[in-house]
Amino acid sequence: MPILRSAFIALSRNQPLRRFSESSTAGRRMSSRFVAGMTISEAVAAAEALQAHGIASTLDSLGENVTTPQEAQRSADIYHRLLDAIAMRKLKANVSVKLTQMGMDLDPDHALARRIVSDLVDHAVAANTFVRVDMEGSEYTQATIDLVRELHSRPQNHDHVGIVIQAYLYRSAEDIARLTAEGIRIRLCKGAYKEPADLAFPQKTDVDANYVKLSGQLLDSGLYHGLATHDEAMVEAAKAYAKSHNIAPSQFEFQMLYGIRRDLQRKLIDEGYNVRVYVPFGAEWYPYFMRRLAERPANVLFLAKNFFRN
Ligand code: FDA
Repeated sequence: MPILRSAFIALSRNQPLRRFSESSTAGRRMSSRFVAGMTISEAVAAAEALQAHGIASTLDSLGENVTTPQEAQRSADIYHRLLDAIAMRKLKANVSVKLTQMGMDLDPDHALARRIVSDLVDHAVAANTFVRVDMEGSEYTQATIDLVRELHSRPQNHDHVGIVIQAYLYRSAEDIARLTAEGIRIRLCKGAYKEPADLAFPQKTDVDANYVKLSGQLLDSGLYHGLATHDEAMVEAAKAYAKSHNIAPSQFEFQMLYGIRRDLQRKLIDEGYNVRVYVPFGAEWYPYFMRRLAERPANVLFLAKNFFRN
């Protein structure tokens, strides 16, 4: 399985295949398993449907590693429209943003991404919602942490910006200690990129054990964090930890991806837990989609069956 994971992650960076897939009708049809649609209104409709079941959303306009400032600004414009839609429709939703989509690669000091994301956070303050900065590959970890800390240090932004930490990185316990000491809200995930063994646990069992340990660290911090996983063992461990430490279900949330483990999402809501679903949308779905296949190569068979059945 690790070989398949690496193969799908390598394919996620294949530009010709990306261009071909994103422009084909068959590709779009297949992506609809994990992608809520191509437009803002489709994403908003998906968020409203989730909300009808008591589930909150985090909206993600797909895209990463833009190559021009114009592209970065166009990506940001979509987020400004999303923030307006969240405020206007009083959606139980926030947004998730990738720094490489906001121009992080385009200048060494990340001045462009800083300006763009700072404007987004200002807008989130006005719309009374929240910007979650996704975490990308390890070449961006430190810069992402630095930028979020800087934005969060402005008092008006305290409740409006947060970060993601990946349990597969060795450094994460220290990062969490520092970030929570500053009051920064965290989404904990296992990690979706290919990382070298000197930075990240190569074995899944070690990643899982670290996820459980870091969940406890987050729950102890007294801040409202998101535990992002579809792994029932991780979910059960967090529930048990919270119960045994008198931490109420209202003090944290579980997060899952659109289209994955809907049964578990609803079960948790029925049990009184908060659940938020990550709702990705847009034409640039290919790298996101391939990472979902990397996580569970069996999805390829599932998709193929449904594709030919339709
Ligand atoms: P794991 O991969 O061990 O899977 C456990 C079980 O969940 C599987 O056995 C299967 O049942 C189900 N499952 C998991 N993935 C599936 C899939 N693709 N299709 C179908 N079933 C699946 N990563 C990152 O590096 N940076 C980020 O910012 C984010 N952000 C993020 C937000 C949210 C809300 C979620 C849920 C996840 C992320 N991730 C992420 C991705 C994360 O790092 C991780 O790759 C996936 O969540 C898969 O890991 P699990 O914890 O689900 O466990």
